[in-house]
Amino acid sequence: MASFQLRTCLLCCLLLITILQPVAGLRSLKTIPIVKNVITQSNPKYLNASTVPHNTPTESKVDVILDVKRPISDLHMIFVLWVNVISGTLQAPLYNQTIDFCEFLKNPSVHPLGQIIHREVKRNGNMPRKCPITVNLYAFYGIPMSGIRLPNFFPEADFMLQISVGLASEMIYDSRLYGTIKRIKCTRAVRC
Ligand SMILES: *[C@@H]1O[C@H](CO)[C@@H](O)[C@H](O)[C@H]1NC(C)=O
Ligand SMILES: *[C@@H]1O[C@H](CO)[C@@H](O)[C@H](O)[C@H]1NC(C)=O
Repeated sequence: MASFQLRTCLLCCLLLITILQPVAGLRSLKTIPIVKNVITQSNPKYLNASTVPHNTPTESKVDVILDVKRPISDLHMIFVLWVNVISGTLQAPLYNQTIDFCEFLKNPSVHPLGQIIHREVKRNGNMPRKCPITVNLYAFYGIPMSGIRLPNFFPEADFMLQISVGLASEMIYDSRLYGTIKRIKCTRAVRC
């Protein structure tokens, strides 16, 4: 009887370790995008935009500058993410959603994946809070990609993210970000 209890206990311990270890392992890792190249187009009637990545061996940062020339409202945003893009082949995106951009500015939590990006962009510049977006220079320098923490179920793979903002009839801003998704270890320098 005693040996049976001991065996049960050992089995339980082993089971607990097996269940908990991957969770503890994932906690000390974070999944982030490294942006390598960006192609941005903007409609000169409304704004002039530039998006520039800056990579060092240890960091990936992006500058976003939006020079808005006239007040803009009634915007929608198209958010499309491809993972594992093989150049030259057209695949179905992993994620494809169109949302009300003005609503998103007021309440970014309506789009959880967009919210992760919005939070980091906002920390680095003057993000408009609502529509109409007023005439102004909106500049975000050195947005650290290490702050854009993606869910850990994202695969380590190449990606393309398309963020398009427009009116019903016209494209205003279209950015395609090419890069790779990486899982990195959390350290004192790279906090999670
Ligand atoms: C657009 O912005 C870029 C960089 O911010 C600048 O070099 C360029 O002169 C601007 N063009 C116009 C037409 O405003
Ligand atoms: C995204 O979804 C919209 C609407 O469902 C569709 O029209 C569009 O073609 C899709 N985009 C891609 C790249 O699959």
